[in-house]
Amino acid sequence: MAIKYPLPPEIDPERLPRHIAIIMDGNGRWAKAHKLQVALGHRAGTENLREIIRNASDIGVGALTLYAFSTENWRRSKTEVDALMQLILDFFASEIDELIENRVRITILGDKDGLPAPQREALAQAEERTRHLEGLRLNIAVNYGGRAELVRAAQQLAREAADGVLDPAAIDEAMLESRLYTAGVPDVDLLIRTSGEMRLSNFLLWQCSYAEFLFPETLWPDFHVPDLHRCIWQFQNRDRRYGGR
Ligand code: IPE
Ligand code: IPE
Ligand code: MG
Repeated sequence: MAIKYPLPPEIDPERLPRHIAIIMDGNGRWAKAHKLQVALGHRAGTENLREIIRNASDIGVGALTLYAFSTENWRRSKTEVDALMQLILDFFASEIDELIENRVRITILGDKDGLPAPQREALAQAEERTRHLEGLRLNIAVNYGGRAELVRAAQQLAREAADGVLDPAAIDEAMLESRLYTAGVPDVDLLIRTSGEMRLSNFLLWQCSYAEFLFPETLWPDFHVPDLHRCIWQFQNRDRRYGGR
């Protein structure tokens, strides 16, 4: 089937970011601007997901990571948290078949054990059903915090050292990386945060070491494939020096 939104000619298909991460921000402001309850803003913020994921997969991006719920988002009202949790269930129920059809491999970043049982099971099942697929790597960060991820990795390594199966001197960057939720996924090349906020909010602290950051003003529910392509174009016009000359 033809690609629904092919890359515009100004984008070089050979130099796509291998890993795009998105902080999907601005649902609350979108709801307010439309005089709607915040839950409807979050719902609107799931309606563009299908086209964004589909396009990332179609154009050949290797990995796409979406920030859906942070360890700090529990601070919101119970009504809002409940609405977000329900949307997570709805998303997987409605999308999983098409994702499998498109060979998308899903990985959940974050502490699934801290989630209610239905969400925990749905997320584990999505991972299980797509583990063998070799298409787009779709990572969804749920109950995720970058610091918690690093603490977890440190605990795993410390436990192995205490058990005598790991020499602390052997710990290097690659080994620490292999204990992250994103083990095996390349570093983030392009980090996009919608809604104009310019902060990381505890997202992928390790993985974004040399990411290019873009902060489009667009609120997440209004972000569509042409906006994604504009971000990729801007990314391709950045000069990545990695400390060199
Ligand atoms: C992002 O939208 C979605 C989540 C945090 C789950 P927000 O709800 O943070 O939207 P704003 O920042 O209030 O506009
Ligand atoms: C970050 O957005 C989390 C997600 C998008 C899931 P927030 O809206 O929660 O972040 P802050 O509070 O503005 O830093
Ligand atoms: Mg926000």
